[in-house]
Amino acid sequence: MRGLILLAAAVSTAALGAQSRERLNFDRDWRFHKGDAKGAEIPGFADRDWRRVDLPHDWSIEGPYSADNASGTGYLPGGIGWYRKQFPLAAGLRGSRVFVEFDGVYRDSDVWINGHHLGHRPYGYSSFEYDLTPWVNYGAKANVIAVRVDHSESADSRWYTGSGIYRNVWLTVTGPVHVDHWGTYLYTPVVRESDALVSLEATVVNQSGAAAAVRVETVLADGSAPVTGEAEIPAGASHRFTLQGTLARPRLWSLDDPYLYTAITRVFVAGKLADEYRTPFGVRTLRFDPNLGFFLNGRAEKFKGVCIHHDLGALGAAFSAPALERRLRALKAIGVNAIRCSHNPMAPELYDLCDRLGLLVMDEAFDEWTAGKKKWIQGRNVAKPGLDGYHEAFAEWSARDIADIVRRDRNHPSIVMWSIGNEIDYPGDPFGHPLGRDGLKPGMLDGNVLPSIARGLVAAVKSLDGTRPVTQALADINASNATGLASLLDVTGYNYLEQFYERDHAAYPDRIILGSENSTSPAAWRPVAANPWVLGQFLWTGVDFLGEAGRYPLRGSASGLFDLCGFPKPQAQLRAALWRDRPMVYVAVQEGRAAVEHWNWQGDSRPALPVVVYTNCDSAELFLNGRSLGAKSVTDRAQPILRWDVGYEPGELRVVGKRAGAEAAHFALTTAGEAAALRILPDAVDPTHVEIRVVDAAGRRVYGATNEIAVSVSGGELVAVDNADLRDVSPVHAGSRKAYQGRILAIVRKPAGGAVVVKASAAGLTAGEATVTLR
Ligand code: GAL
Repeated sequence: MRGLILLAAAVSTAALGAQSRERLNFDRDWRFHKGDAKGAEIPGFADRDWRRVDLPHDWSIEGPYSADNASGTGYLPGGIGWYRKQFPLAAGLRGSRVFVEFDGVYRDSDVWINGHHLGHRPYGYSSFEYDLTPWVNYGAKANVIAVRVDHSESADSRWYTGSGIYRNVWLTVTGPVHVDHWGTYLYTPVVRESDALVSLEATVVNQSGAAAAVRVETVLADGSAPVTGEAEIPAGASHRFTLQGTLARPRLWSLDDPYLYTAITRVFVAGKLADEYRTPFGVRTLRFDPNLGFFLNGRAEKFKGVCIHHDLGALGAAFSAPALERRLRALKAIGVNAIRCSHNPMAPELYDLCDRLGLLVMDEAFDEWTAGKKKWIQGRNVAKPGLDGYHEAFAEWSARDIADIVRRDRNHPSIVMWSIGNEIDYPGDPFGHPLGRDGLKPGMLDGNVLPSIARGLVAAVKSLDGTRPVTQALADINASNATGLASLLDVTGYNYLEQFYERDHAAYPDRIILGSENSTSPAAWRPVAANPWVLGQFLWTGVDFLGEAGRYPLRGSASGLFDLCGFPKPQAQLRAALWRDRPMVYVAVQEGRAAVEHWNWQGDSRPALPVVVYTNCDSAELFLNGRSLGAKSVTDRAQPILRWDVGYEPGELRVVGKRAGAEAAHFALTTAGEAAALRILPDAVDPTHVEIRVVDAAGRRVYGATNEIAVSVSGGELVAVDNADLRDVSPVHAGSRKAYQGRILAIVRKPAGGAVVVKASAAGLTAGEATVTLR
């Protein structure tokens, strides 16, 4: 209730009173019930026995994992859930407008205020707002908001979705004349060194009972002169102000210097300030060229991108900005410069973070349109799939959903492309075409229907934002060339279709070609590096994710450069060798298709181990216990892998990377001794994420350790534990977990911030303890 006391204080002390805007986090102190509850929308409903939860909340991750659930959604349950929250509104707020905003509810939500039904929203990735004003109580009588969430079609996705109010909720209070929800649109049609022209559209709503003489004034940056507009807005109407201003000597938003301005829009009614609305924005230019590729601020840039899903490992879908920031920073550190939101819009904070960190975003709306794709139940490509999913709502809701996606996020400089879909043309799933990969077989739908649907989506996007290209990730390029789908996109996205780049570049000279989804093999990068006209690529995926799993007990997909706990895999190091500028070198041992990062091979009977070195240096020299095993040069930058066969002996395998003959980077694997102790290492970016490492007497990680580690937290709460082992389906809320690759991850929490003490113990090991300071 802290926020609401603040609200009351603001009203009683500030001269602006009810005319000022307040946006309060509304996540605390909800009641939750898993299952349906008749009459729970009625204010007097007895919810005393319901569980107390703070949002964001995902009930699916609470499990249990079970072979009876669907592999697509990670063998975790769906179902129906209810949330209720009571809240007062200060009497002084009478005359204001009160709105509730949900960043995302998965899925099919219904919301009531004081028993009045506010609306229904099927798509679990859309954000939405309801006006509560006509039905709220002020003063002593509390309000009750109730939310029913229906994820009973739990096998409705190819990947893990989560269930519940899994993103933030906000309460906004404004005066009766105010900037509309997502009511500003700001872009820079002209950018020069000397100045930038800024266009601003601001929609103002008059919810008062009388016509209002409105003046709007926007200040673009400290020191810039305000731009203004005036209009008489009738009662109950809205008006879109179109303003233009200039920014002198704009500081550009770029990947290295992601500079943000804030536009402050003030609304005056009869000379009195009625609303103030802030719009962060960036000044940058985008150019997409069929022959020369992509340019940011006039500088050629390749998309070195990764696809990500929205789950955050052991947090499930429950959104956490610090946890996401930890992942994004780790990706950026290996040279990633772009994120593809697969295959749906993300939490609003993702775009804020990408704005702030300097990451480009390909934002994506849908994974299916009018027909359902296969949702595997018993493992990927095993037995019979289901078809439940968003296509059931597409006809009624897609126009609204796509418009809301663009309206919510079009001011973010990080977003550089809108994607209207992923692999809607996937061969046989369910569309086909006589010229497509698998033809048009009985049971397939005719892919010729896709262009007309796409045209509608493209037009919807363009009507709201003409500054960015529209793209789509295509799976069957031959079918989509034949239907015309590929050619109606500004940027044509090719998923795993490198073999057609050259052919289509020649056949469609105006086409702008992007690798919208690609394997992590260096072979998929080669055509991007070799051809300026290929915009770049997006790897499948940046981070391992829940769902899209094989047979039970696999719970997730191992496609990531980083594992489910966010720790880098050897694949992340290989990517750094390809994409990062700062010198790096890395050594591991190749075991089948994977590389492994340890030097404990005692008992291995092979005369020599296949050692791999990844580096972006010119050459590398390998040393075993101080003896040089020779130097090798990187002759092919698109294949930055050097190999040695090394007879095992315990000790240190050290690699030195050299640029222009001088040491530029080094890395070593060392043989660890017996597991002796536990070490606690809070993450530098997100200290709620704590690594608990099994170490030997000298403090080295014992890669092979599988000790069961019990975790306890005092002064805070233990949220979950995980170990990134995709075959480990023990509950993440159990308080203990087996080490995997010599470590586990604990996620802790303290809503008010401050110090928590994390303790870890395991039989036979010296316990670990650390004080972690949370923000
Ligand atoms: C792609 C699809 C992704 C994922 C991937 C698995 O075709 O776009 O969502 O399913 O395959 O390899």
